[in-house]
Amino acid sequence: MPITTCVFDAYGTLFDVAAAARQAAAEPGFEALRQKWPELANHWRLKQLQYTWLRAVTDAHADFWDVTQDGLDWALEATGLEGDAALRQRLLDLYWELQAYAEVPEMLRALKASGLQTAILSNGSPPMLDGAVQSAGIGDLLDDVLSVESVGIFKPDSRVYDLVQERFGCARDQVLFVSSNGWDAAGASGYGFVTAWVNRAGEPMDRLPWTPAHVLSDLTSIPQLAGL
Ligand code: LAC
Repeated sequence: MPITTCVFDAYGTLFDVAAAARQAAAEPGFEALRQKWPELANHWRLKQLQYTWLRAVTDAHADFWDVTQDGLDWALEATGLEGDAALRQRLLDLYWELQAYAEVPEMLRALKASGLQTAILSNGSPPMLDGAVQSAGIGDLLDDVLSVESVGIFKPDSRVYDLVQERFGCARDQVLFVSSNGWDAAGASGYGFVTAWVNRAGEPMDRLPWTPAHVLSDLTSIPQLAGL
């Protein structure tokens, strides 16, 4: 079936999650972060994701903003930066205005110009996603922004992927699902979406029962994959 709907993960896929730590490290007053920002960003992201999976399997949902703060607190302590309240606040503020990757607007514009439907499907809470979409200026290039909060469980639970069909009425194999998270692309493949894993860092493939249909180094070829 031809692709009718392109659905994107948000954090790490459209929005650069390392940008908060990288940007804060360049600002006056946060010299302690200059050397440590890559380590902090890495710990922050990994803990944030681990907490989503742990909360899903233990049926203890909290929204992504809570989980993001918990992950940051773990990462600040692991890097010896836990006493710096101003740094913590600055990192959290920056998370609401993460930069989109450079190719995002043009890629979305090409999809919309050809009449495809576009959406975000993310663990993010609606206010967080709204902040990121507004600050990246891509709101008019998306038909919808779908959050796991409407089902109260994180990816890769199938109830999250169900939101796409409920919103757009398309068959699973008419959806091109794009994620920079290998486990998310794998989960969506198992669900039945056509998937693209955006592997910017050249990471090894996740050892899971499903594999993404496509592996990309950035988002520029998404219109081509969607059949344009
Ligand atoms: C999201 C996380 C997984 O946006 O990056 O859903």
